[in-house]
This record gives sequence, C-alpha cells and structure tokens, in this order.
Amino acid sequence: MPEIQLVRSLRSWGHTTPNVLARTVEERRTRGVDILDIVGAGAYENGLGVSRERLEALAASCALTSAAYHPDPRGMRSARQAVVDWYMRRGVACRAENVVLTPGTSMAYLYILRLLVEPGQEILVPSPGYPLFDDLCVFAGVRMRYYQMRQDGGRWSLDLDELAFQCTSGTRAVMLVSPHNPLGYVFSSKELETVTALCRERGMALVFDEVFSEFAATGRTSAGPEAFPPPLARPHGAPLSICLNGLSKMLALPGLKLGWMLVDGDREFVRPFLEALEYTSDLFLPVSEPAQAMLAPLLDDADCIASRSAEEIARRRALVKTMLDVPVVASEGGVYVCVPLPDGLDEDTVVLSALDRGVLLHPGHFYRLPGHIVFTCVAASPVLEDAMRRIRGLCRR
Ligand SMILES: Cc1ncc(COP(=O)(O)O)c(C=O)c1O
Repeated sequence: MPEIQLVRSLRSWGHTTPNVLARTVEERRTRGVDILDIVGAGAYENGLGVSRERLEALAASCALTSAAYHPDPRGMRSARQAVVDWYMRRGVACRAENVVLTPGTSMAYLYILRLLVEPGQEILVPSPGYPLFDDLCVFAGVRMRYYQMRQDGGRWSLDLDELAFQCTSGTRAVMLVSPHNPLGYVFSSKELETVTALCRERGMALVFDEVFSEFAATGRTSAGPEAFPPPLARPHGAPLSICLNGLSKMLALPGLKLGWMLVDGDREFVRPFLEALEYTSDLFLPVSEPAQAMLAPLLDDADCIASRSAEEIARRRALVKTMLDVPVVASEGGVYVCVPLPDGLDEDTVVLSALDRGVLLHPGHFYRLPGHIVFTCVAASPVLEDAMRRIRGLCRR
C-alpha cells in the first residue's frame, strides 16, 4: 500500500529524543518535586501587565466584535491606526497603510520567509540568538546562515564584517533583533546604517524584531506616559524593512496572539510586498477580531504599563546581579540574564546541579552561547531571590 509520509524536512518533528535537561525536569515533576523555573516564568503571572480587571473588562466589551464579521486582511483600520499612534508617541512617523496585524510575531516571520525567500535560498540570523528561528526556517524550507555577534572584553556587539562576509548571492534577508534576545544588546544607529547600506547593496530585506523595545534599560527616569523609552535606533534606508512588534512581550500577553508588521522602504518593493502580505493574510484571516478591537485601548495602557514593567525588570535584574555576585553579560534591554562561566566549568553540569537544587536554568548552547548559563529576570523578586541563593555558588569555581 502506498505510504503516507510527513514531508522529509519535518519527519523528525515530534520524534526527537528529549535532552537530558528536559528528561530530568520531567522526571522530577512526575515525582512531585517543586522546581523554580526561572527561564519559562510567565511575565503576566509575575505582575508585569495590565490588571486582571482591566483585561476582563476589555475582553467583555470587545467580545461582540466577532458577531458582525467584516474582516480586513491587514487588520481593522482603527487597530492599525492605534499602532501608528503608538509609534508616533515614540517619535516614529508611519502610516496605517504600512501596518499589517498578525497573530503574533512568530507568524509574521513565517509570512516573511514564505514571501521573500525561495526554498533553498537563505536568510541571515544572529548567533547567539533565539532558537525559534531555526525551526521556523526548517518549516518554511528556507536555509539559514548565522552571523556572529562579537564579544570583546565581556561586551557584545554586532560584527559587521562577519555579517557582510556571510552574505551570498542567495541571501534574501537579514534579521536583527534589538534588544537582542538573549544578550540584551541594542544596536546603534551607526550599526543599523551599515546594515541597511549592505541590504541596499546586495538587494536584501531587513527584518527588525523589536519585541523587547519597551524593555530597553537606558534612559527611563520614571513610570508614566511621559517616560517613553528613548527612541531606540531603528532601520532607515533599507530597500525593504519590516519591523516586528506586538503585545506578547510589551504587555506580557502572548496568549492574545496580537502582533504587527510595519513595512517601509522603496515604493517599488513595499507595494508588492504589502499586496502579497494582504493576500496571504486574507487566506487565513488569522487575527481574532475581539483581540484586534482590544489593541487600541491596550496600546494606550502600554504607555505606562510597559514602562512600569521595564522598571520592575530593571529592579529584578539588579537583584539577580547583587545576589549572584559574579559578572553577567551587560544587558541594555530585554528580560534575559546571561552568565559567563569560568573556564573549565561545564554549562550542562551547572544546569543539572542547579536542578538538583530545585532551579531550572538553560545552558547557553540552547542559544548558541556556549560557556554561559541563561535565564530571565521575569519571575517575582522573592522567587528570584530564592533561586539565586540556591545557585550562587555554582557559577564560580
Ligand atoms: C526575539 C523574539 N521574537 C519573537 C518572539 C515571538 O513572539 P510572539 O509571541 O509575538 O510570537 C519571541 C518569543 O519569545 C522572541 O523572543
């Protein structure tokens, strides 16, 4: 009988053997052992978002939006305008015509990969970096090349020569994540200028993931609408740039599945891309209408909620640094903490020892950051304090 088979590139999905960390965590949980998870801690449960009452009231008032269904594949005009207003308040001029709503940023990536990269062609992604991209590229049938971030005296930066070196004639797009995940690095205007010039020279799109934009560590003095983060450097001048953001990190609401793409660049590239994007989005009409209706009020809230969350993250980060009492990678934004381990200390051993003490961390190699351990400062302060107390001796020899 002819066989039904999964496509070759995805045949291993669901069959990979869980790594030793996942197996040990599973085994402990089955035995009912409590684990302080400081990598997967949810931001909302840890007090970093709008209040429950506000969320309930908004959900109730927006629920009926789904009753009259007149979908716009780019997203409701009022919701897209709310995105524009949100950018405007941060000093970024844009137009609703250039905004497309997506069910989260991960799906936006998939649209981009399908629309801009032929199977077998390439995109450039940062290394170290967030592991999500690897599987997204496999799923989209796109090849990935890594450009290395450079480490110099404990500080990380973008290695522009390396990035240029990695470009081939088949490279269709460069992905930048700023603040970078997990390093927390924020790209400078100068670096962005160089990358956009390279994109122009080589005919590549620039994908700019700013999901941690509200968690930039610098420049905030107080919470409140007057305390926007200083405008982070943003790409200008690429032939096609696609900026990604959404409510997942900003308001700690990944489950709302609401993100957006802001498309900019030369008219001759922007127009066909937006048209194809609209067509793609029309195939699925994937963004929930009630979620779209919640966007404008939530973005108004974001002005002060996100700045309060960023302050809280900064406090939790300071607590972690003090309690760990070893050097950590200097972070300019985002929620991750990366701790370099001294030579001879193996990250997997440290992570398993931490688990013996009831704390779940990640080894750096999950992010192509060998020689480090990685976690977030999202968990509430008492949890972080407890976790740091348990692991502090493990990160030094
Ligand atoms: C840098 C980065 N981009 C995108 C995403 C995915 O965001 P979303 O929840 O909007 O799909 C994540 C998730 O952690 C992320 O770290």
